[in-house]
Amino acid sequence: MNAMKIGIAGLGTVGGGVAKGLRVHGEMLDARAGTPLELVAVCDRDPAKREAFDAPAKLDDIKALAASKADLIVELIGGENGAAPMLVEEALKAGKHVVTANKAMMARHGARLAALAEKNGRALKFEAAVAGGIPIVKSLRESLIVNGIKAVRGILNGTCNYILTQMEATGRSFDDVLKDAQALGYAEADPELDVGGGDTAHKLALLTALAFGVAPDLDAVSVQGIRAITPDDISFAREFGYRIKLLGIARQTDNGIIQRVQPAMVCAGTPLADVDGVLNGVVVNANEAGPFFFEGRGAGEYPTANAVIADIVDIARGNVGSVFGVPAASLSALSPAPAAGASSAFYLRFQVLDVPGVLAEIASHLAKWRVSIESMIQRGRAPGEAVSIVMITHETTYAAVEGALQTIAGTSNVVAPPVKIPMEAK
Ligand code: NDP
Ligand code: HSE
Repeated sequence: MNAMKIGIAGLGTVGGGVAKGLRVHGEMLDARAGTPLELVAVCDRDPAKREAFDAPAKLDDIKALAASKADLIVELIGGENGAAPMLVEEALKAGKHVVTANKAMMARHGARLAALAEKNGRALKFEAAVAGGIPIVKSLRESLIVNGIKAVRGILNGTCNYILTQMEATGRSFDDVLKDAQALGYAEADPELDVGGGDTAHKLALLTALAFGVAPDLDAVSVQGIRAITPDDISFAREFGYRIKLLGIARQTDNGIIQRVQPAMVCAGTPLADVDGVLNGVVVNANEAGPFFFEGRGAGEYPTANAVIADIVDIARGNVGSVFGVPAASLSALSPAPAAGASSAFYLRFQVLDVPGVLAEIASHLAKWRVSIESMIQRGRAPGEAVSIVMITHETTYAAVEGALQTIAGTSNVVAPPVKIPMEAK
């Protein structure tokens, strides 16, 4: 029986996990694949990492890997541009299958790489690129295909969810908890991608493509990260019966597709609110087929390596198929819904000087923009300190809230930029 010969590029957290997984579970994986899986080459620029794995070819150059005798290349070096897409292109052109965990590359170049893979009759699989160990890519590509999908919403970044959960549980600072997430191997090489929302945007662009049959369109995602979230916001959220989560939301509307990454108030007791720590969660609203909820580990060596290995086994079994579930040539261009028309209820926090009339002034500006207040909390203060005024609004448009906040931010008693967080519908 012909073996499936595998070459791995990048022997860091995920690549190391894949090489180990192939070795430790070799016999079971061969049985599942129906053919032996043979690691024939590893490639990393660090000689110590190359030496740590047992493979006939230990390479430091991705070009040599693309030209090696591997049938399948696993790209785990990362990066939107440069070496990663170069390796994938060369490998596909050389007639090799490719498995990757690289959401940045797939979100930016996915449509083009898919066309190249399909032209060459080769697989390009990326299960690990979205939500780590959760099999959401395969589910959207191959299972939830009949009833049409209305929306996909998820907690897609383990680092951010870990940080928000730890801040809530321990009251520790954002920077302190971020260091832990880096040490645990959850964060990207550039953690700004995590906390700034860019990593969630990459994953969301891929989910949108799979759910709605469009080419991934990263530029159409509106992105806001979690850096501005304070322990105060987290504790106010709890008082109102909510938890703050960084969500990626893709929704089909009559006016086009909405793609947003934003911290959101998620009602306590609903499935996404209970997704804690490094776990990810995804809700798929699939019309008559009903809502589906997926939860699992979204980052780290083992869950991610598991998803990569599952793709390898899938290819070894002969499941090549279309990269995004429909032929690359028929992926349509995404038509984005106009941002200003979107609506939501909002949590608003104003940091103000506690002087007579300050609340009336804020309320009057909100009223001018027809933003109606549902409930409000004002916390006591130590003498001389600014106070927080916190409100939940009724449903209104993003445009109205942004207009009102811009005016309020310019008034003399408001001492910090106002915070707005949309309330996620149940
Ligand atoms: P790491 O930084 O741990 O590993 C990447 C490895 O690739 C490093 O050893 C790096 O070397 C090496 N490398 C980088 N460029 C080259 C090159 N040109 N030639 C040879 N080797 C190179 O990253 P991760 O394992 O964490 O991530 C890999 C991919 O998986 C990324 O796309 C990431 O987004 C994705 N991913 C990661 C998850 C995680 O939990 N970590 C989860 C899901 C996806 P050096 O150290 O010298 O830079
Ligand atoms: N940095 C990413 C995260 C890795 O924290 O979710 C998984 O994609």
